[in-house]
Amino acid sequence: MLKGKHLIDLNEFTTDEVDEILELADKMVKNPLDYCEIAKGRILATLFFEPSTRTRLSFEAAMLRLGGQIIGFSSPDASSTSKGESLSDTLRTVAAYADIIAMRHPKEGAPRLGAKFIDAPIINAGDGGHQHPTQTLTDMLTIKSIKGTVSGLTIGVCGDLKFGRTVHSLIKAFSRYPGNKFILISPQELKIPQYIKTQVLEKNNIEFIETEKIDEVMGDLDILYMTRVQKERFFNEEDYIRLKDSYILDRDKMAMAKEDMIVLHPLPRVNEISYEVDEDERACYFKQVEYGMYARMALIAKLLGVDK
Ligand code: CP
Repeated sequence: MLKGKHLIDLNEFTTDEVDEILELADKMVKNPLDYCEIAKGRILATLFFEPSTRTRLSFEAAMLRLGGQIIGFSSPDASSTSKGESLSDTLRTVAAYADIIAMRHPKEGAPRLGAKFIDAPIINAGDGGHQHPTQTLTDMLTIKSIKGTVSGLTIGVCGDLKFGRTVHSLIKAFSRYPGNKFILISPQELKIPQYIKTQVLEKNNIEFIETEKIDEVMGDLDILYMTRVQKERFFNEEDYIRLKDSYILDRDKMAMAKEDMIVLHPLPRVNEISYEVDEDERACYFKQVEYGMYARMALIAKLLGVDK
């Protein structure tokens, strides 16, 4: 039963609960109008203390498509946070107006802290370099819809594996499904954090390798999950400039991949996927954007308990 729960880390939901959300999302993809009034009279608040295009707008589109309404802010400068109000006071206030809250915050752990102060479900829409569970629901729905399964896959994740919160959530979630293997492609400086290796991959006996060379593994992949080097989390500009173009997926690299491999990217992209790749039918990142809205529709419906 998901009604009333917070979503801070997707692995705090059972795999049955995650599968339930994905099944509902799949029904919503097929028959969206069947669900266009189920959240009537309910309000979603989107509190974004960090910039966003997809996550905030897909949450808002999701709520509107369910027949609900939205309030919120897209920057802390547009809220009383800029006058020094604490996160707990902001959340207590918003919880008096809204039935459910989606929050993005630069501080890791902020959504978990916030959940202590309010009863309304709070959804982590990205906390610092930590987790991004609704991106992972998006990724799972995309992969399930295109590949027909979330198990038995060789998943390459490439780019900034250190600061990329989408990657951390993705690895945690896919480690719970049988037969998945990971190929972790990054420069030395942007390797996956040690806790993901020890507490997730090694603890669950998940097969994985780390490499710096994308060309050598392209042919092995079922999924290539590209990521942007996270400029906003670097301590100095010099390191960012040195590392930002470590990997650029282009037509030549795509020629090395399987015919049914798919390329995903949480977006925004900067330079890491050439625009020429967009024409390849294996480039699925804009389909992924659309699935993100349906994943969030299903999540909102489940947490509000208005699913049917
Ligand atoms: N994928 C993602 O989180 O995109 P935004 O930063 O635009 O929300």
